[in-house]
Amino acid sequence: MASGSVKDAAALITDGHSCALPAPCPPAIALCLILNPPAMTYATITHSAEETIAFGRSLAADLSPPLVVLLRGDLGAGKTTLVKGIAEGFEAARAEDVTSPTFTLIHEYRGPRATLYHIDLYRIDTLRELETLGLEDLLAPNCILLVEWGDKFPRLQHDQEITLERVGENERKIQRIMSFR
Ligand SMILES: Nc1ncnc2c1ncn2[C@@H]1O[C@H](COP(=O)(O)OP(=O)(O)OP(=O)(O)O)[C@@H](O)[C@H]1O
Ligand SMILES: [Mg+2]
Repeated sequence: MASGSVKDAAALITDGHSCALPAPCPPAIALCLILNPPAMTYATITHSAEETIAFGRSLAADLSPPLVVLLRGDLGAGKTTLVKGIAEGFEAARAEDVTSPTFTLIHEYRGPRATLYHIDLYRIDTLRELETLGLEDLLAPNCILLVEWGDKFPRLQHDQEITLERVGENERKIQRIMSFR
């Protein structure tokens, strides 16, 4: 997939979470829950780093601050590559200027619509170390936190998860899970 809206390009699948309706459930609430279930997953497969960057670019149109997004996936899965596209989509940085924050921990990219913080917790081992980063202070109304390896800390609150999985030499399955905090 080279471009286009995320919803056009991605296959919609449910993640198996149950959606319990209150009983009796007014029709308006039932409709609302059906249209906005507690968690939904969109999945797509990209076939090159460039496609993942393009996917990130289109995804940006669908992300509104304030937001914390966990980027899950093994080493080399493509998390930083996806951030390159998101940063371009926000006109916050060119793809080639987005580099891995593995050693610097946090990179900031300011765009007209949002400030992005690209965070990598791979080298953070303890809650105390995590606290010293002060991530909660970064979550201003116009900010989006894109967090690699955030799943190391289950207590880290987040709004969405994007999982990248290597399914071939250059193929990556990208799943986006949206849930309520
Ligand atoms: N479809 C694809 N999507 C993304 N990256 C791809 C794809 N195909 C090949 N690649 C390559 O895989 C690598 C992904 O590296 P990247 O730094 O984005 O991974 P990462 O998940 O951030 O890893 P780390 O956990 O080490 O930070 C890059 O070298 C990229 O060129
Ligand atoms: Mg990375």
